[in-house]
Amino acid sequence: MPTLVKNWVAQAVISDDDPFKSEIIINGTKLIDFTLLFIEGNINEDQVKELAYKIAHERAKASSNIGDFVYNSNIARSELFKHLSEFEESISLVQPLINKINYVFDQFIYHTVKRYSCIITQDIEEKKQFIDETHKERLTILGQMSASFVHEFRNPLTSIIGFVKLLKDDHPQLKYLDIIDHELHQLNFRIDQFLHVSKKDQDQIVEYFLINDLFRDITEFLYPSIVNSNVVLQEGLSQNIYIPGFRNELRQVLLNILMNSIDALAENDGQKIIHYQVEDQENYIVIHIRNNGPKINEESIRTIFEPFVTTKNHGTGIGLFVCKQIIEKHDGEINCISDDHWTSFDITLPKRA
Ligand SMILES: Nc1ncnc2c1ncn2[C@@H]1O[C@H](COP(=O)(O)OP(=O)(O)OP(=O)(O)O)[C@@H](O)[C@H]1O
Ligand SMILES: [Mg+2]
Repeated sequence: MPTLVKNWVAQAVISDDDPFKSEIIINGTKLIDFTLLFIEGNINEDQVKELAYKIAHERAKASSNIGDFVYNSNIARSELFKHLSEFEESISLVQPLINKINYVFDQFIYHTVKRYSCIITQDIEEKKQFIDETHKERLTILGQMSASFVHEFRNPLTSIIGFVKLLKDDHPQLKYLDIIDHELHQLNFRIDQFLHVSKKDQDQIVEYFLINDLFRDITEFLYPSIVNSNVVLQEGLSQNIYIPGFRNELRQVLLNILMNSIDALAENDGQKIIHYQVEDQENYIVIHIRNNGPKINEESIRTIFEPFVTTKNHGTGIGLFVCKQIIEKHDGEINCISDDHWTSFDITLPKRA
């Protein structure tokens, strides 16, 4: 081994467990040779670049600190300078050689570190993607498991609701049946909501129905909550309006919005009003539901339709997310505007089925 290389190896930082330990010495020797050849004009820059890329891959594979590499390169550079001074040439002869050595080393270090950074960044990206995908897969499996689990609640629940109805018919005076019935329907609604998000429930049919009937059905269902919370429900339906769509799903949308309105009005000191109205336009049906509860600030309005966004202690934050999904499935639009007086949810649905 030439003295120059020996001196470099003696000072270089080379870890004992580096998998490319012997390769480091070969690479260093090559770099010193290349530089000497470059000084003589016998080598092109591509060879330096090729060596730089090879080292970058080895350093990345060894998971070593790139600082060690830069340090070792600079030691080699110093050894070359020392080697030059041994010839005791005049400064005017040595200076161009120093410039050439610096040029080769600067290029070499630049290409190695740049390629090393690229490899490391790509590696991190790949790992991140792998983690994201695994996480997503687990969430999907978890979602599917809970969906099947919740699905199993449905049949016994439907039969309990049926038997409660029979009991009510046979014993109309029996206490608490209304409460039991209402709570069971709430549970059923929650299941519908959940299954909609998990996309497990596919058996639906498009109907052409009277929106007035749907509102009547919903307000009957919500009657206990409306009375309990002292809310005044103002109806603005002057004519019979038919609308095409999945009745059960649109029921879910209106229920979610009305239940949110009742919740929002809990904070109101004065009169609590919910007002709904349906506009029959040429190609669209527009439903407006508004309440005089507290204003939702602009920033929150942008996020309330996202899943799991909730400000309630026992909220799941999927109500409005489900609404948006259902309305978009009907090729419609749902928006919210809110000011100090009113918070309004406006739904536009195309008339074509
Ligand atoms: N009419 C409204 N007035 C004021 N804030 C509202 C109104 N409707 C919704 N919000 C806000 O939007 C959030 C999201 O509503 P969303 O219906 O999606 O979830 P949630 O009601 O909190 O829970 P979930 O409906 O799943 O039980 C609510 O927590 C509330 O902060
Ligand atoms: Mg809600």
